[in-house]
Amino acid sequence: MSRIAYVNGQYVPHQEAAVHIEDRGYQFADGVYEVIPIVANKLIGEEGHLDRLWRSLDELQIDAPMKRKPLQLVMRELLRQNGIETGLIYLQVTRGVAPRDHPFPKDAVPSLVMTAKRTSLAKAEAKAEEGVAVITVPDIRWARRDIKSVSLLPNVLAKQKAVEEGAYEAFQVDDDGFITEGSSTNAWIVLQDGTLVTRPASNDILSGITRADLLKLLENKDFKVELRPFSVDELLNAREVFLTSSSSYVQPVVQVDGKSIGNGKPGSISNELRAVFKDYMNN
Ligand SMILES: Cc1ncc(COP(=O)(O)O)c(C=O)c1O
Repeated sequence: MSRIAYVNGQYVPHQEAAVHIEDRGYQFADGVYEVIPIVANKLIGEEGHLDRLWRSLDELQIDAPMKRKPLQLVMRELLRQNGIETGLIYLQVTRGVAPRDHPFPKDAVPSLVMTAKRTSLAKAEAKAEEGVAVITVPDIRWARRDIKSVSLLPNVLAKQKAVEEGAYEAFQVDDDGFITEGSSTNAWIVLQDGTLVTRPASNDILSGITRADLLKLLENKDFKVELRPFSVDELLNAREVFLTSSSSYVQPVVQVDGKSIGNGKPGSISNELRAVFKDYMNN
């Protein structure tokens, strides 16, 4: 089955999918995106992803390219045409095509592109069983990280550094020495007494849908949760560390900046929360 992409109203072969060189996404990173996981034909956190998409669009005064219901139909049709039951949808909206000039163009029509790819739950599972390493890097991003903008250069640089150092992710550190989040993940620690800590949603971080869904699931569990920034020192001395995202779900972290967390194996709380999240995805 050949891969199909969606570009501005048309389903086209993936290799031929293209937007104009004067698309403002290409020239100014003037656009937003979403990544939505699909597990066994279920779009995980769909409403949260669409709410966040609409919020990002509103914040940047970009018109929605279509209403919510038709957009949901396009996502399903794209999955159908690609024969995907478990995978990821990538969806991007830009302000559209216009002669290059900084102010918002008057009549540009927003561009909507979507791609879908298959992912392997078994691979994610293997990674979770082993745990991953992260490094810390300075957070050099802009002040509106709550907007899921396609302007991801600092995130790209952070992740590249992680890869070069043999790590899976880079946790970014603000000017006061507190972790903001990963390059494409939210960061969590478990204190020695079992308390879970993650940074509160604000302009400092992207409010991850996986993070929000996990917080909701935790409301029915017997965990103490603190929504507050945590320092690099707390990270290094945590009982457990894990990260959340649409593609990693709940992923245990076993090493930070070369130092083992706990006994260097995924901790029991991280494992339990991963199981809770898996259960939520599968039901
Ligand atoms: C900077 C950043 N933080 C956190 C996340 C995790 O968000 P979600 O759980 O919605 O995938 C992402 C996902 O792309 C991200 O780019």
